[in-house]
Amino acid sequence: MQRAAAIATLAVLAVAACSRETPPTEPEVEPAPVVAAEPALDPVTGLKMAGDWEIVRANCVACHSGKLITQQRGSAQQWLTMIRWMQKKQNLWTFDPETEKKIIGYLAEHYPPSDAQRRAAIPPDLMPPNPYSSET
Ligand code: HEC
Repeated sequence: MQRAAAIATLAVLAVAACSRETPPTEPEVEPAPVVAAEPALDPVTGLKMAGDWEIVRANCVACHSGKLITQQRGSAQQWLTMIRWMQKKQNLWTFDPETEKKIIGYLAEHYPPSDAQRRAAIPPDLMPPNPYSSET
């Protein structure tokens, strides 16, 4: 009688062990890194469509392709220098200060200096000798 009870207990335990559900394992997925989405490009000018880009489109692609702008990089000061050069030499019109600030802000934010775009000047001691130098 005792033996029968023991067998019954074992049977119950065995059934319980087999039917124990394994908890579903969560698939291990790395959370995607948070990256600011790059603004879409205007199909006509190639300008990044963000912020004050329409002011830039209205003022900067009348004489040349937008590519001349988007392939260029510069700090706010460098962009200002390019604009002043165009105003002096290329008949670029003068902007009211508010508009100019927005144009420079847009350019410096979306086309900032980048080490991949421009190499630094070669130090003079690495330059080849200048055959036209007056210092001989
Ligand atoms: C009135 C005409 C005119 C307008 C408007 C104009 N540009 Fe230019 N820009 C020129 C000319 C001309 C050149 C020289 C083109 C060349 O070298 O073939 C030039 C050259 C450039 C270059 C190349 C400079 C370099 O060092 O190679 C950049 C960048 C540029 N412009 C940006 C702009 C931006 C930004 C605006 C708006 C603020 C603008 N341009 C508006 C006439 C203009």
